[in-house]
This record gives sequence, structure tokens and C-alpha cells, in this order.
Amino acid sequence: MNRHSRITGTGSSLPPRRLTNADMVELLAARGVETSDDWIVERTGIRARHFVADGVFSSDLATEAARRALEAAGTDPASIDLIIVATSTPDMVFPSTAAIVQHKLGMAGCPAFDVQAVCSGFVYALTVADAMIRSGSASKALVIGSEVFSRLLDFNDRTTCVLFGDGAGAVVLEASDTPGILATDLHADGRHVGILCVPGHVNGGQILGDPVLKMDGQAVFKLAVGVLEEAARTVLAKAGRTEADIDWLIPHQANIRIMQSTARKLKLPMDKVVVTVDQHGNTSAASIPLALDHAVRAGQVKSGDTLMLEGVGGGFTWGAVLVDF
Ligand code: ACO
Repeated sequence: MNRHSRITGTGSSLPPRRLTNADMVELLAARGVETSDDWIVERTGIRARHFVADGVFSSDLATEAARRALEAAGTDPASIDLIIVATSTPDMVFPSTAAIVQHKLGMAGCPAFDVQAVCSGFVYALTVADAMIRSGSASKALVIGSEVFSRLLDFNDRTTCVLFGDGAGAVVLEASDTPGILATDLHADGRHVGILCVPGHVNGGQILGDPVLKMDGQAVFKLAVGVLEEAARTVLAKAGRTEADIDWLIPHQANIRIMQSTARKLKLPMDKVVVTVDQHGNTSAASIPLALDHAVRAGQVKSGDTLMLEGVGGGFTWGAVLVDF
């Protein structure tokens, strides 16, 4: 009998502080930086984002999202035997945010580690968890994406600071006789490190280099639309499925125009695309599980639906996971 993995519960967490585009206009104006609701909506589709309060970390959002996913799966933390957190905004340089989450959930003993693939982090983490479950080295995993990108933003740079938000999403992934995760496809191309990065690093008790997000938006845009189509087609081929089998496309929520372009290329109408970027902005590794949980709780995504999850981001990294939910 083949061993597979299956998502049995989803959860998410957003910090209470919500900033609309009007709030961003005000926040930037105080620094002499000009932006507008029209520009942000037209170029990105974003209308609002959430920012954490001082003293709140990725592990806090991740723990809340995980608790909700555990509750939805009807499982208790004691039965979890693997925790993977995808994040580019860990609480500390080390140890991993996953180890901190494990402790906050009142657990100890099971393996817990972070995956760093920026906005592709969740599809990377899900792929690793699926492989560990299929190989028999885990049976019930918490796979979490959690970010506090507000901490990486330069609020004097209007081309980036209006795009991002904070949040977390989580799934419980369990061993199953039937798939679940149908196919996965991951890639990275380090030639493009410079188009999306936070170049600062810690050295001798100081941060050297620039510890804020830098992005060549147009270069990211061009790369993203090409690789997302390719990854989607690859997982469909691996699973012996076609575009027509996709009930919901749940892409990384970076920019509505990238999402529209991907949907067009896959011949999917926008009403088959889960869109939360308008309300959450780009939450990097958190965006896919956050969107998935919102769609599940809104009654859009239902048991039995086929989902195409797609991530793309800094590295450059990208990937897709095809799921029977
Ligand atoms: N408000 C007002 N004006 C702005 C703002 C702003 N927030 N930001 C930039 N502008 C201005 C620029 O200064 C420029 O003005 P100029 O013509 O006088 O020089 C003008 O708008 C056009 O700027 P561009 O950078 O060329 O704008 P573009 O149409 O490329 O849109 C954007 C920028 C939205 C970042 C776009 O390139 C994009 O969507 N890129 C994809 C990248 C992305 O989504 N990244 C998210 C992270 S990566 C990931 O998650 C995959």
C-alpha cells in the first residue's frame, strides 16, 4: 500500500493592526514620501495589510495559526511528530522559529526546523514535509508559513513598503492511504539573488550592509510570470492531470497582476483564483497557507477540491504543489 500525505486542517493568524492604503498614505506623508490609494490598487491590487505590534514575533503568529490548524484537524499537539516553519523573518538568528513554536505549543522532542525560501517558503516546506511523511520518517506534521515583513521595510522607499504585510498560515499534514499531495516541483536560480534581497548581515555584534528589503520590481515581475506557468504545467504533468482539473489556483499573493497573468496562461477564470492580496498585501511565506485558510473558512475551498499552490520569490526561488484537498 502506498503511503501519501494529506492536509487535514488549516489555520491562520493576522495581527490586529490593519493599515489601509489611506493609512499608508498618511504614514509615508509624515516622512515626506508620496503615494496614493490609486497607484497602489492599480499596480498591485493591494488595499490593506496588517502589521504586528512591537514585541510580537513570527513565532507568535505561527503558534496561533498552528493552534487553529490543529483544532480544525481535530488533533492535539502531542500527536505531531514534525514541525516546519517557512520564514524569512525568524525571531532570532538562531535557534529556529520552529523550535520556539514547538515550545510555545507545549511540545518537546519532535524534529523542528525552518525553511528559508522567501515567498516560496511554504511550497518548499510542504514538499519537504510530504517527502518525510511518504518516506515514513514522520506521520503528522505542522507546516507553517509565518512572517513579520513590516520589520524589513524601508518606509522611505515607496516602491517596496506599500507591498508587504505580516501574518501566518498553517496546515496539518498527515500520512494517508490516499493522496493528498499529488505532485511537487521546486526550483532556485541564485543568479538572481540581487533582484530581491535584504543584504544586511550580523557581524561582531553589529548589522553590516543594508538590513531592509531591496527589490527590482520589474525584473521580479518578468521572472515570476514565466516560472509560475512552467511550475504549474510540471506538477500537472507529473500528476497526470490538466488545467481543467484545477478547482482553485492559490498562488503566492504578491501582486494581482502576476496572479491574473498566471490564471490567463493556465486558462483559468479569476473566479477560480483565491485572492487575499487585496486585504493582506504580500505576506511572503505566509501568503499561501493564509489564503488557503481564508478560502476554507469562507466556504470556497471544499474537501475533494483540487488545488494548485504556487510560490515564487527571492533567491530566485519558485515551485508548485498540486493537492487533492
Ligand atoms: N506610490 C506612488 N508612486 C510610486 C510608488 C508608490 N508606492 N512606487 C513607485 N512609484 C512610481 C515610481 O517612482 C515611478 O515613477 P516615475 O515614472 O516618475 O519614475 C512609477 O511609479 C513607476 O514605477 P515602476 O517601478 O516602474 O512601477 P511598476 O509599474 O513596475 O510597478 C511594482 C511596481 C508594483 C513593484 C511592479 O514592478 C511589480 O508588481 N513587480 C512585481 C514584484 C512584486 O510583486 N514583488 C513582491 C515581492 S516578490 C514576490 O513576492 C514574488
